[in-house]
Amino acid sequence: MSTDHMNIDIHTYQVPSRLLDSKKCPKPHIDAIEKYKQLYEESIKDPQTFWGRTAKELLHWHKPFETVLTGSGFEYGDVAWFREGELNASYNCVDRHALVNPKKTAIIYEADEPGNSRHITYEELLRDVCRLAITLKELGIKKGDTVAIYMPMVPEAVVAFLACARLGAVHSVVFAGFSSDALRDRIQDASSRLVITSDEGMRGGKTISTKKIVDDAVKDCPTIEHVLVFRRTGSDVPFSAPRDLWWHEEIEKHRPYCPPEIVNAEDPLFLLYTSGSTGKPKGVLHTTAGYLLGAAITFKYVFDYHENDIYGCMADIGWITGHTYIIYGPLLNGGTTVLFESTPVYPTPSRYWEVVAKHKITQFYTAPTAIRLLRRYGNDYVKDHDLSSLRIIGSVGEPINPEAWEWYYEVVGRKECTVVDTYWQTETGSIIITPLPGATATKPGSATFPFFGIDPVILDPTTGEEIKGNNAEGVLAVRQPWPSMARTVYKNHHRYLDTYLKPFKGYYFTGDGVGRDNDGYYWIRGRVDDVINVSGHRLSTAEIESALILHHAVAEAAVIGVADELTGQCVHAFATLKPNEEKTDVKDLILQVRKVIGPFAAPRKIYIVNDLPKTRSGKIMRRILRKIVSGEADQLGDLSTINNPSIIPVLIEKVKSS
Ligand code: WT7
Repeated sequence: MSTDHMNIDIHTYQVPSRLLDSKKCPKPHIDAIEKYKQLYEESIKDPQTFWGRTAKELLHWHKPFETVLTGSGFEYGDVAWFREGELNASYNCVDRHALVNPKKTAIIYEADEPGNSRHITYEELLRDVCRLAITLKELGIKKGDTVAIYMPMVPEAVVAFLACARLGAVHSVVFAGFSSDALRDRIQDASSRLVITSDEGMRGGKTISTKKIVDDAVKDCPTIEHVLVFRRTGSDVPFSAPRDLWWHEEIEKHRPYCPPEIVNAEDPLFLLYTSGSTGKPKGVLHTTAGYLLGAAITFKYVFDYHENDIYGCMADIGWITGHTYIIYGPLLNGGTTVLFESTPVYPTPSRYWEVVAKHKITQFYTAPTAIRLLRRYGNDYVKDHDLSSLRIIGSVGEPINPEAWEWYYEVVGRKECTVVDTYWQTETGSIIITPLPGATATKPGSATFPFFGIDPVILDPTTGEEIKGNNAEGVLAVRQPWPSMARTVYKNHHRYLDTYLKPFKGYYFTGDGVGRDNDGYYWIRGRVDDVINVSGHRLSTAEIESALILHHAVAEAAVIGVADELTGQCVHAFATLKPNEEKTDVKDLILQVRKVIGPFAAPRKIYIVNDLPKTRSGKIMRRILRKIVSGEADQLGDLSTINNPSIIPVLIEKVKSS
């Protein structure tokens, strides 16, 4: 993950000529690097003008704003964008397009079962959103209330997001791969009043018992008044009236129009929980106007969106990528977005390419882990499909290794598409470092240059000093506020300040290492904190350790991220057991993590040991464990602070033999 790309001779790829040929492709919004530079300079030197203009251009305001940006910068975390402005997110995503273009397809639903797809127009989407909004209103949901959404990738999930937004309610979407314990914690933290779920989910031919998981979760959630259940599979599932209500029975009672609740620019739009370096997940809070502007403008320029495009992002709506680039970004621009319920390999490793050919997708967005997996299956799965509709192919979630990048570019993109390696985070709300497809020459593995309004800096991690100029290496921070940045951690503003604004005074800190090469290109190296990235899923080592310690047999646990060819990183755990618990099976401990967090967090390996390397003050030295697992036990570095050096050979032996 931290290979130093700066010393490797990396080829630079010019913008494919096809993208600039007006007979073959629509003219890119930004079609030369000078145009990017010019707009970029304005956005940094005069953010008020840049963001004021684009906010009027890209959003519909029920009441115009007077000021663009106020607040102390990064001192108190009190920035406010467009503070007098009033608007509604669902009006911006649906109504305004339904008014002028009612028959245009908003969503193409590609169900898990191949051959099963459905088109939903903007006017249909508006009716669906309105019916559900009234349903929620009848159930007592009003502006400011939090609604949990635990749904598979069905169009009704999009309807659920937008119905909440229509009422000014705050959606808190929980990825449907999280366990009932994890769902419970997120419902409790947000005091959600209602959960929207489905009877079951379908993915890769397997069913997921979403309703059962919700039932288990809400046992300990006194704030939950109702569970609204969408029927996806029609299987018999436990149902307890009057708490549980069927989606289809409720919505048909209501007329398909509901006026939008106009909210302030800075009113919250949603919460999304993400992992940090400490145990408890953080409820990242995004507000309405700034987030929407970030989603709209990045979607327009990074995916170079044009009127007749069919855009497909393969992420899950439960993560920020799904929020911003399946739902908000495309719909704000009046686009057509593909909602893909399945996996890249179901029923065969051709599935993505079948979907691209079938719907004539023009922009395709996925994660490095999927690209690596499909590359491994070989080119035959790709080459029999007509991918000529593609113009832009994107990558997100973790650093993409040059080999995977080149395969994506050559085999999927046939050297005729721009690869956009987009860097951002749950907290940034939208893409912050990225190529622009009609303008930026790309280098495999580099996210290239900052998006408009983003002023990245490289800091020395120990002194906090800014490292200026090219050929720099350090940690990545941002100097100026941008509209879609998270405003707080829900009910824990201190944690927001401590995590993002205090580590380096005057900057937003990303938690990532970064390099800037001789040509000024940015290379994201990966996290410098205790966050690990498994298949683009963000996990905290502390969170997995807490899960393990909850097991009655475990005394202590230490979790590390280990490089993995397919998933980027995988989880390895070391555990010591309590006396008389020696018989504990490693499988039980893996199950424990699946139960507390979810299957995607399960450790690949667990080593049961007698002791962990610790400092004299009792801190576990994970650095040593990382070195041992990666076969660098001969380079353990400074061991002067270790309290129990005799454990090291024992650990080395243990790792070798398992
Ligand atoms: C972390 C954020 C927002 C997208 C989905 C993940 C890593 C994300 C890239 C990229 C290198 C990347 C970073 C970041 N990351 N995109 N293009 N190149 N690293 O969102 O779960 O909030 O995770 O993902 O480490 O900090 P997230």
